[in-house]
Amino acid sequence: MAQKELAEYYQIYVWQLPVRLYHWVNFICIVVLSVTGYLIGNPLAIHSTSEASFQYWFGTVRFLHFAFGFIFFFNFVFRIYWGFVGNRYANWRNFIPLTSSQWKEIFHVLCLDVLMVCKKPLRSIGHNALAGFTYFLTFLAFLFQAVTGFGLYAAMSKSWFPQLFAWVVPLFGGDFAVRQWHHLMMLKK
Ligand code: HEM
Repeated sequence: MAQKELAEYYQIYVWQLPVRLYHWVNFICIVVLSVTGYLIGNPLAIHSTSEASFQYWFGTVRFLHFAFGFIFFFNFVFRIYWGFVGNRYANWRNFIPLTSSQWKEIFHVLCLDVLMVCKKPLRSIGHNALAGFTYFLTFLAFLFQAVTGFGLYAAMSKSWFPQLFAWVVPLFGGDFAVRQWHHLMMLKK
C-alpha cells in the first residue's frame, strides 16, 4: 500500500504584537464608546436622595466617552502607520482590493464560505481578500465616528486638536445632524 504523503507544516509569524495590541485596544474602546454613547443618547433617570452636586455620573460618562474617543482615534492612526511599516500581513494592501487576483479571491470566498456553492479549497495566510475588504469598510466606519465625534467635541473644547474638526458641524448643517449621524453607528431603534 502506497505510503501516504505526510503533510508538511511550518510556523509563520502572522500577527505582530503591535497589530494585536491595536486590536484589543480598539475592542476596549468600542465597548466603552458604545456603552457611554448609548447613555449619552439615552440618559438614565437615576433618582437619588443625595445632593445634586454630588451626583456627577453623567459627567463621568461624558468624560469616559471623550477620553476613549482620543484613544480610539490615535490607536487607529497608529494602525494606519503600521500598515506601512509592519510585516506583509499587516500591510494596507491587504485591505484595499486593487488587483484582479484580490477580486478573484473575494468572489472565491463568497462562493466557498458565504454562498457555499463551490468546493475548490482556498489557502490564505492572514486575512483573505474578502475579510481584508470588510475590515477596510469598518476602518471607514471608524473614521466616520472619529470625524463626527471630534466635530461634535470641537464645540465643547478649547484645545487645538478638536478645532481641526470644527468644519464638520457646518458641513452637515448643524450639531443635531452630526449627532444623528454619529449616533447612527449605534443603530438607534
Ligand atoms: C465607535 C465609536 C463611537 C461610538 C459608537 C459613539 C457613539 C456615540 C453616541 C451614541 C452618542 C450620543 C449621540 C446622541 O444621541 O446625542 C455620542 C455622542 C458623542 N460622541 Fe461619540 N461615539 C464614538 C466615537 C466617538 C469619538 C472618537 C469621539 C471623539 C471625541 C466622540 C465624541 C462624541 C461627542 C462629543 C458626543 C456628544 C456628547 C454630548 O453631547 O454630551 N465619539 N457618541
